[in-house]
Amino acid sequence: MIIFENLNSKAVLKLHNLYFKPFISSREIDEAIQKMVEEISADMGDEVPVFVGILNGSFMFVSDFVKKYPKPCEVTFIKLASYEGLKSSEDIHRLIGLTQDLTDRKVIILEDIIDSGKTLAEVYRIFKNEKVKELKIATLFYKPEAYKKDFKLHYVGIKIPNKFIVGYGLDYNGLGRDIPEVYQLKTTQHMKNLVLFGPPGAGKGTQAEFLKEKYNLVHISTGDVFRYNIKNETALGMLAKSFMDKGELVPDKVTIDMLNAEVEKNSDAEGFIFDGFPRTEAQAQALDELMDSKDSEISAMIALEVDDEVLVKRLIERGKTSGRPDDSDEIIIRNRIKEYYDKTAILKNYYSGKDKYFGVNGVGEIQEITDRLCKVIDRL
Ligand code: IMP
Ligand code: MG
Repeated sequence: MIIFENLNSKAVLKLHNLYFKPFISSREIDEAIQKMVEEISADMGDEVPVFVGILNGSFMFVSDFVKKYPKPCEVTFIKLASYEGLKSSEDIHRLIGLTQDLTDRKVIILEDIIDSGKTLAEVYRIFKNEKVKELKIATLFYKPEAYKKDFKLHYVGIKIPNKFIVGYGLDYNGLGRDIPEVYQLKTTQHMKNLVLFGPPGAGKGTQAEFLKEKYNLVHISTGDVFRYNIKNETALGMLAKSFMDKGELVPDKVTIDMLNAEVEKNSDAEGFIFDGFPRTEAQAQALDELMDSKDSEISAMIALEVDDEVLVKRLIERGKTSGRPDDSDEIIIRNRIKEYYDKTAILKNYYSGKDKYFGVNGVGEIQEITDRLCKVIDRL
């Protein structure tokens, strides 16, 4: 028996309104079936078994199975229906029952997948009055966490977690049966996750507000997240503070854990705007891993591009009213801008390398700039 571990592939399958990710390859399915064939044919000895496939889902499995079966055998089908959409329903409909006499025969049920076991219970009801010599159950896929019955499963191909799958005979509302590999429902559906960048004075905060509204995104400003955790004395906040009090940088792991908590708090979001993070390539990689663990990814790094002289003018103007001391000194301002470019060059390369960097002209009316940003985001 193969216990399946996740592939780390990126291709995504869309059926109706849902997204699925690659889960089990054709080769792995083939190997699992080969093993089942060997086990079953050894157990059958010289007897000619009757394989009973449960339609619709099992047609591909039965076909591949009997092609590999090395000795004479018979094949028949019964047709049951239980699943509606993503859920196993209470009543199982018997659409086509047994059509041949199985008295004194060795019968092996070939199921594509066993989930709650309700279908299997119906199979047992069908066979209750048949005087078969032996009834055994073989299933290609099995979800142990979902199984609620006590019937013994004699042959199991691949154990899988309790998540909805499609492909290789299995469907989601009619689609997906024809796909030769198995795909698994993505935990998060399609999201727009943006990393927003811009030098001081570029208008990042203003634009983030608009984007958040328009695309129903959650704005995660690392600065705000830190202040929130420290103010509320969360475990992570206290941990972060202990480093800050020593004058040390907060380790990336702590920051990522805080961001993870924010992402989890908003698990129904249509996406996130990350602001103030990442700052280094290591952080960018950590953020990719975090999104990957949520079956998602960073869609784009969007950087507002504003000429230095315009920024200096804007910040000096702002300093006149804001009273922020670092907004009034031209040398400090120029240093902050330079520091921004020194630090973000690496990230620009990182995201460019993945075709995910988008520079947007940040000079003009606020609405004009928003329109430019939307043009980029709509195409993601
Ligand atoms: P059970 O009756 O709950 O054991 O479910 C068995 C039947 O439900 C299978 O024969 C499939 O038709 C369907 N099913 C169970 N899990 C899945 C799945 O993950 N994807 C597609 N169909 C499924
Ligand atoms: Mg089935």
